[in-house]
Amino acid sequence: SSVRKHNDTQNATTKPNGSKIVPDKVLSSSSSTTAVSSISSTTEETGQRLSKKQKRQLQHQQDSRPKKLINKEPTTEAMTQKAKDLKKHRNSLPIFTARDIIIKEVKENACVVIVGETGSGKTTQIPQYLLEAGLAAHGTISVTQPRRVAAINLARRVAEEVGTPLGQKVGYSIRFDDTSSKDSLIKYMTDGIMLRELLSDRLLLRYSVIILDEAHERTLRTDILFGMVKGIQKQRQELIDRGRKDIQPLKIVIMSATLDAEKFSEYFYGAKIMYISGRQFPVKILNTVEPQSDYVDSALVTAFQIHQDEAPGDILIFLTGQEEIENMEKLIEEYATDLPPTVGKLIPCPIFAAQDTSTQQKIFEPAPHGTRKVILATNIAETSITIPNIRYVIDTGCHKSRGYNAKIGIESLLVEPISKSSARQRMGRAGREAPGLCFRLYTEDSFDQLEEDAIPEIKRCNLESAILSLKASGIDDVTRFDFMDRPSKSGLLRSLEHLYALEALDDEGKLTEIGTKMAAFPVDPPYAKVLLQSEKMECTKEAIEIISLLSVDTIFSAPSSKREEANEARQKFTSLDGDHLTLLNTLRAYESVKGDRDWCRENFINSRHMRHVLDVRKQLIQFAERSGMDPKKTCGHDLEIVLKCFLAGFFQNTALLQPDGTYKSILGGLTVSVHPSSSLFGKKREAIMYDELVFTTKHFVRGVSALESNWLSQAAPKYFGQRHA
Ligand code: CDP
Ligand code: MG
Repeated sequence: SSVRKHNDTQNATTKPNGSKIVPDKVLSSSSSTTAVSSISSTTEETGQRLSKKQKRQLQHQQDSRPKKLINKEPTTEAMTQKAKDLKKHRNSLPIFTARDIIIKEVKENACVVIVGETGSGKTTQIPQYLLEAGLAAHGTISVTQPRRVAAINLARRVAEEVGTPLGQKVGYSIRFDDTSSKDSLIKYMTDGIMLRELLSDRLLLRYSVIILDEAHERTLRTDILFGMVKGIQKQRQELIDRGRKDIQPLKIVIMSATLDAEKFSEYFYGAKIMYISGRQFPVKILNTVEPQSDYVDSALVTAFQIHQDEAPGDILIFLTGQEEIENMEKLIEEYATDLPPTVGKLIPCPIFAAQDTSTQQKIFEPAPHGTRKVILATNIAETSITIPNIRYVIDTGCHKSRGYNAKIGIESLLVEPISKSSARQRMGRAGREAPGLCFRLYTEDSFDQLEEDAIPEIKRCNLESAILSLKASGIDDVTRFDFMDRPSKSGLLRSLEHLYALEALDDEGKLTEIGTKMAAFPVDPPYAKVLLQSEKMECTKEAIEIISLLSVDTIFSAPSSKREEANEARQKFTSLDGDHLTLLNTLRAYESVKGDRDWCRENFINSRHMRHVLDVRKQLIQFAERSGMDPKKTCGHDLEIVLKCFLAGFFQNTALLQPDGTYKSILGGLTVSVHPSSSLFGKKREAIMYDELVFTTKHFVRGVSALESNWLSQAAPKYFGQRHA
């Protein structure tokens, strides 16, 4: 096979000689980009494995790593061995040499942009540096994260490093789960929570520093936060200038793992960009020769190939979602039983959001001697969480992203090809501690065809939650909001229209009472509408239960080897009216046996997901109580009411049966098919309502229930009056 080099690679930063920082790089000179573009460099070669000689050379490089670590003197208080180890780890991170200059820059500037390679220590260290420098004297240091798992995990780690129990000096706050307290000095939170807090604290006065992390991901919420905190910083300064002594300035720190930071800097008044380079060992890339039809299968084969042929070191597989991860976990366990006895164990370690903390901690612990771990993750492992000891990366080339098609007005969770910059990040994960291998389960040509960078979510997604948040935060004219990338006018208008149809906005586009309530609900606008409606229709109990059931991918498990049996078991719960009530029946049956594990196994119920459902239900009940609703209100056996109630939020997710037996969506006139996992699969009903529309090979609807078409105009008089009268 031929060896082709793309992107060569010999430069200072490939040498693992500790860290280097290039501070004082003021924005706008293109040279600043050149100076650091080498950071992500690796040996990008394709088509063949590392030769023995190359391996030896790389080994040699590894050995040249400086052994002596910088040691700051420990404090006077007695330190346990654990604390000492943590301290040693902290001081050995690449970012440590930049500690003082980071503190100085943040003290001297209102906004600072910090770019640093994944794993260099940005998220765990910078908040601590700022704390140590006294920047939490007038308020909490907050760190926003796009992902819940990351917020939890990092808070836990930093609490340990700071040496106080989680929830004291260091805490986290995510939807449905808040460990932080008034006294928390460092708080990790999802960007969604920060947006929510804005509702009650418009100047975010409880914060002295806001660190917007993972800025390169450009999620919708981060983007909104950019605009909000920028405005808040200005407002606070104006108040201070007018003599308000009780208000302190707000510091903004933007952190990113990719190099294109100019855009952030430009947006924040030309803020200074600091570059921190980490350690990066060469990573050899191996592409597949042929395109793969089933990347899950290919990943499985590759993992076992690595396990049997390659030197010790853990494997990281990038998959697209929880369901896939769990499938893979089972497959690995199944296949592992066929390994020859001389080969050590291969231990699958999944990581995803709905996972309890001790399970999650497992991924950070070393594999027992003679075994190998295989981490199964989504793109959370790309830049948010650094998992130690990874030598092998298997990149499926896919991820799931929320997309929004402004033309047909649907939101869908698509499995999409990643960008080149994601592919490079994934590859980089193999070279953190030693030279590594990255197996790309796609051809070199497919790589060449990938987009350079991911498109910011704001350009793709459903804006409704965002608009509600903006409106509720006092920004009436969303079309004039200071977006870093302005969403399309048509997208904005469509969202405004949907919110109007949901009665969240009035004729003038102002937030209605319903809208104000919806903005405070911890669920997306259609679900919020369902909850509000459930109060009137007296079915809050059922609405909460079904929404909780819809919060997981699926509560059913269907192992491919036992599909028949699983289907049969499910018949017991199936409602003729479709999935919403089928889910409810299943939950009732589950509770009648008190969640018995054997029962779950016999009935092919995913008990882990069920426990998550119960957790969400608990939170929603608490939320309903707090907002003055009665979560016990029930419609008893008259369950048709519940479907009508859901229609109040999902009237746009409806489709009518056509003479040819297909369904056509009411919005956009799209031909949709009922997903095979639905209880209405293969059934012909006059009209259907669905929870989500997923595009895979075609447009599938999931979470489907049957309707009578005359319910539609009752559910949304404004909407259907306007369009279909
Ligand atoms: O944010 P950035 O990617 O620059 O790095 P970080 O998340 O602050 O991680 C710094 C180091 O802490 C990495 O070497 C991680 O492996 C380590 N870490 C850990 O050992 N356990 C955790 N729960 C989190 C981070
Ligand atoms: Mg980070």
